[in-house]
Amino acid sequence: MLIRPGGTELYTDYLSLAAQTDMVAAVRSLLNAAPLYTPTMPRTGKSMSVRMTNFGKTGWMSDHKGYRYQVNHPDTGAPWPDIPESILSVWRDLLPDQPLPDACLVNFYDQDAKMGLHQDRDEQDFSVPVLSISLGDTALFRLGGTKRGGKTQSFRLSSGDVMLLRGEDRLAFHGIDRIYPGTSQLLKNGGRINVTLRKAL
Ligand code: SIN
Ligand code: MN
Repeated sequence: MLIRPGGTELYTDYLSLAAQTDMVAAVRSLLNAAPLYTPTMPRTGKSMSVRMTNFGKTGWMSDHKGYRYQVNHPDTGAPWPDIPESILSVWRDLLPDQPLPDACLVNFYDQDAKMGLHQDRDEQDFSVPVLSISLGDTALFRLGGTKRGGKTQSFRLSSGDVMLLRGEDRLAFHGIDRIYPGTSQLLKNGGRINVTLRKAL
């Protein structure tokens, strides 16, 4: 489904239940090597409600020093594990003409977590789309324009949905207003996992 011509594309039910289950298993199998960390906000130092980890050459993080990509895990100092093939293949299928992603951010939302409106703008080349996969409980996603404070629209992202932010919407403001608990059985303790692929370097 096209949300906006030349911009956001939403592929509802893109992943089968089996593919979703495999992807969750692949993510979980790497959490020992790359444990979830709690990012903090640059200026206030306040903890975000979402826990994160990364796979790939470089990973996104936020702390008192600001937003950035770095090649080592902030707590363990280890390099991030490789992006699982089951995740990379979604990019290959939907974006065959784009360079492969080098960053895979994994966001874990418990039922009370949310994410404020922001732009993805720590990457070097904004011509490469952002690909985002939803797993687990449904989320209320808010999409704005490229200027803060503009009009926004909201839609729900359900387990197995894949969204592309590209073209004019590559730098659109976006965020998660809420999670709808109990809307999916995929994660045994509920909540939502978002997997975002980007080319950062
Ligand atoms: C993000 O913008 O990093 C996450 C968006 C989402 O959870 O769908
Ligand atoms: Mn984002």
